[in-house]
Amino acid sequence: MARSYYIHTFGCQMNESDSQRMGEALARAGWQQILAPDAADLVLVNTCSIREKAEDKLFSALGRYRLLKAQRGTRIGVAGCVAQQEKEKLLQRAPFVDFVLGPDHLDEVPRLAEQGGVATDFLDTEEYLFPQADPETSRGRATAFVTAMKGCDNVCSFCVVPYTRGREVSRPYAELVREVASLVAVGVREVTLIGQNVNSYSGGCTFAELIRRVAAVPGLLRIRFTTSHPMDLSPELTRAFHEVPQLMPHFHLPVQHGADSVLQRMRRKYTIAEYERRIAELPRDLSLTSDIIVGFPGETEGEHAQNLAFLARTAFDNLFSFLYSPRPHTGALLKLAEWGEIPRPLALRRLGEVQALQMARTNERRRARLGGEVEVLVESPGFGRSRENWAVHFEGDAAVGDLVRVRVQGTSLVALRGAQEAVVVKAPVFEPPARRRLSVVNA
Ligand code: SAH
Ligand code: SF4
Ligand code: F3S
Repeated sequence: MARSYYIHTFGCQMNESDSQRMGEALARAGWQQILAPDAADLVLVNTCSIREKAEDKLFSALGRYRLLKAQRGTRIGVAGCVAQQEKEKLLQRAPFVDFVLGPDHLDEVPRLAEQGGVATDFLDTEEYLFPQADPETSRGRATAFVTAMKGCDNVCSFCVVPYTRGREVSRPYAELVREVASLVAVGVREVTLIGQNVNSYSGGCTFAELIRRVAAVPGLLRIRFTTSHPMDLSPELTRAFHEVPQLMPHFHLPVQHGADSVLQRMRRKYTIAEYERRIAELPRDLSLTSDIIVGFPGETEGEHAQNLAFLARTAFDNLFSFLYSPRPHTGALLKLAEWGEIPRPLALRRLGEVQALQMARTNERRRARLGGEVEVLVESPGFGRSRENWAVHFEGDAAVGDLVRVRVQGTSLVALRGAQEAVVVKAPVFEPPARRRLSVVNA
């Protein structure tokens, strides 16, 4: 009997993609994936440390897996950003953990699962090889993530990512385009290029050129990318939004705050006027989304009012707003006492104001589409995403991978509801693989 593993993934798209790569490495070593932890021989937790809450989730999950270990000797591994942040300290805090691996060691998971240990040093930029995706993992799916770069060279004072993910390294474009072509060959129709700072890509061409090269892969219908830094929004990338038909009109461009003085303490390197100048050049029908941090150290009532005023005049389609959370190894943590921590009730009140403002805006923008049509790429029966990246539930018989037109009949904050009108592009029919390299069994 093959040994089985279960992966529990927290955090961003980088982690989702890393979990797939680790699963592929385990499959090559003869492990089989199961979809529930109870019967697994190995439980792997891929972790996020972006905010304290994310880190807490690891320890509550570990509490549950510890019981499994006591009952049936399950091996437990911790990967991802908390692993990288805590390294061997994690073994002191949770001695029942068998192994710890950072994001540069995905391929080593089978060895570590056998032998235990800690692998968290960063590899030199020149030595780093991006793990290759096995396209079979994506067979039967309409969408896939493709890693464009890793790491982050910025120094935003609130953020732990440069510490957990190391220096920026871009993947050579030829390798990346080849991966996209191999994904399209198994039926994938949309790729999302990912990286913590993806628009600073420099793998032999600019990011805008990369998008054009990816768009040239025959059969690929849609391109998205995430996530971007406003300082790296080049005129060339703005032009790509106007000119490349496969590039979807959705742009996630985290601004973090609407007051220059806060942006300065955050070390974001742009002013609100610069941000506004850049987004003014984007196509008018583009859906712009952003991230906001509320309660950053020293945030005054005046700065909060500037934040609200900025949000009120900017037509964000949607906004992800977070309470500031102090993180280890960050500049703002060192300045916390000097700048002044915002008391939680005050920060919560401000967060409520930001969210109420955006909720009204998002609702209004969704409702404006009632009765109209959206184009949806079907990801599972009756579900897909519009060009703007809105979730759409619809009635209709379209197959996974079809591109359909849907008449909008209802809206909510999180999704549209409607009925299929017509299939625009039919999904290609592929022969099933001769031998499935990766199998998933239900436990
Ligand atoms: N690379 C992306 C950000 C990735 S983290 C960028 O530069 O835009 C995703 C979001 O988490 C950030 O945009 C920020 O809004 C939020 N975030 C990061 N660190 C945080 C912290 N310490 N407290 C609260 N929110 C944080
Ligand atoms: Fe964090 Fe800033 Fe890098 Fe984004 S750009 S990952 S917020 S340091
Ligand atoms: Fe979290 Fe690490 Fe991603 S901190 S957001 S999993 S890069």
